[in-house]
Amino acid sequence: MSTKTTIRIQRFNPDKDKKPYFDEFVIEPTPDTTVLDALHMVKADQDGSVTFRRSCRHAICGSCAMNVNGSNMLVCKTPLRSVTDKKGVVTIRPLPYLPIIKDLVVDRSSFWKQYQRVKPWLIAPDDVPEQEFRVSPEEVKALNDAETCIMCGACYSSCQVIAMNKEYIGPHALLKAFLRVLDPRDTAPAERLADLAGYDGVYRCHTIFNCIDACPKGLNPTQAIETLRKLAQRRLAFEEERKARQQTIKEPISV
Ligand code: FES
Repeated sequence: MSTKTTIRIQRFNPDKDKKPYFDEFVIEPTPDTTVLDALHMVKADQDGSVTFRRSCRHAICGSCAMNVNGSNMLVCKTPLRSVTDKKGVVTIRPLPYLPIIKDLVVDRSSFWKQYQRVKPWLIAPDDVPEQEFRVSPEEVKALNDAETCIMCGACYSSCQVIAMNKEYIGPHALLKAFLRVLDPRDTAPAERLADLAGYDGVYRCHTIFNCIDACPKGLNPTQAIETLRKLAQRRLAFEEERKARQQTIKEPISV
């Protein structure tokens, strides 16, 4: 890696630009410099108007998702050297398919609207059992995967269906819906599955797998969508099974 790296940043200020263009900045990174560090170096030393989102710097908040050399990723956890090409250049764009507010900041309104649509909160039973809700190891793994999602938008803005149709629920919200449908405490799986099986729901997914490639947490929204498709076809039976199971787990554990 050369001692100097050229950072190409897509710029766009809607107040004065007709279309996006690229600015180039040369920095001297260390071996530990991340892509986010590089953006901070540019902003601090060369052009304070370069605009981007970030917060935690620890791959937790999801606010720093951007497109680097054509792939969506969290720039705070990406070493600059891992994305620097042979000519010493790194190209940074905003997340694709979303309206640009300024430079690398996009409008995520459609992303959050779809998240709200799937009611990502728990609909708990009125009659909470005194014993714990028991969960199988397979369910724990599925729930853990969905819960690990930090809502960064990398999957959403890599999805070819989203590129054409912002009414599609999207992989992020479907993964969170999956979390609630599989949650043994939730009382409305059939209602949820009916909504997910409707227009612009699970059957819109083209199974292109871009969401899996883009996810910085290594999650698998495509598999969750596939499971939701299967459950949607037997949603009433699934809910009855859920209720029957809750009845049995109220019984004392036999030893
Ligand atoms: S700054 Fe929070 S995930 Fe990157």
